[in-house]
Amino acid sequence: MTEKKRLLTGDRPTGKLHLGHYVGSIKNRVQLQHEFESFFLVADFHMLTTKNKPEDIAEIDKNAHEMILDSIAAGIEPDKVTFYLQSGIPEIHEMYTILQSLVSVARLERLPSLKDMARNANIEMPFALLGYPVLQAADILCVRGNLVPVGKDNIAHVEVTREIARRFNNLYGETLPVPDGLVGEVPTLVGTDGDKKMSKSLDNAIYLSDTSKQVEKRVMSMYTDPKRVSADVPGTVEGNPVFDYHDAFNPNKEEVEELKTRYRAGKVGDVEVKQKLAKAINEFLAPMHARRAKYEETGLIEDILQRGTIKAREETQQTLYAMKKAMGLTGVWNRVRRKAEKYNKKKTKETA
Ligand code: TRP
Repeated sequence: MTEKKRLLTGDRPTGKLHLGHYVGSIKNRVQLQHEFESFFLVADFHMLTTKNKPEDIAEIDKNAHEMILDSIAAGIEPDKVTFYLQSGIPEIHEMYTILQSLVSVARLERLPSLKDMARNANIEMPFALLGYPVLQAADILCVRGNLVPVGKDNIAHVEVTREIARRFNNLYGETLPVPDGLVGEVPTLVGTDGDKKMSKSLDNAIYLSDTSKQVEKRVMSMYTDPKRVSADVPGTVEGNPVFDYHDAFNPNKEEVEELKTRYRAGKVGDVEVKQKLAKAINEFLAPMHARRAKYEETGLIEDILQRGTIKAREETQQTLYAMKKAMGLTGVWNRVRRKAEKYNKKKTKETA
């Protein structure tokens, strides 16, 4: 039996997942989990590169919990995949330090994604943010990922990872697999305001965990064709978010086509189109809510993350050892380190 290739991807723990996340990445992950041995990272240290206030940090636990619960509700199978917590694997940072010498500052400074992140956060580029793609390279390489599905804004970071892995292999000998990035082809889902992409901060999102009442409320207040002042005026379907959502979430294609025809002819009111949309979205979310209820039991998500972090840490330790061996960083260093570690462990026990 040939071993499955590895997939690795991650998210910063910024909050619960919405339909935009589902369309843009979760759906793809649910499909790929069968084909690849999958690792999903909770990138809490990445979040600190732009959000490091105590009130941001206070949100991490809850957000990580919601993110994992939402992913599982959406169809990720916790027995099949490995969820892991970045800050639970100190070796990632040791690896990060090693990788830092394999990329130039100028290369990182040229990345538009980092400048965008600094601008959006209203801060001057922190040192940590400049290193963001290098830390990401450590995340990917630590479990020896082969395929990295990411959003458009992150594909350049996978390119940096590839360069770093190649440089490592050239310098020290073939050690690290060079991963492939994978950008989804799906168009970004617009928010309920019909203006920007769906996002928590713009308050234009429908969440996977929303109740049917919340979905109805959100849908009924959605933006449609602004030129259409009453139901008997012909409306535009293209670029109309209500119809974009019908296309994305209503499996009854006949109903959608019929609504579009009547809309174009000025023969249907917004209310009917929206009511049918709310119903379709609620039916789409219902199985997720059922799965969610099964996993909401206290401690279950924490167990999943803990088990995954232990497993990913073992993988990371193996990779790091192989890297150090290739570099000639074992030997004396190791002996000193082992002794220091033993001493520290004893000390910690004594003071605990
Ligand atoms: N940069 C990703 C984001 O925008 C999160 C992330 C961190 C990641 N490490 C990764 C994604 C490794 C893919 C692979 O949230």
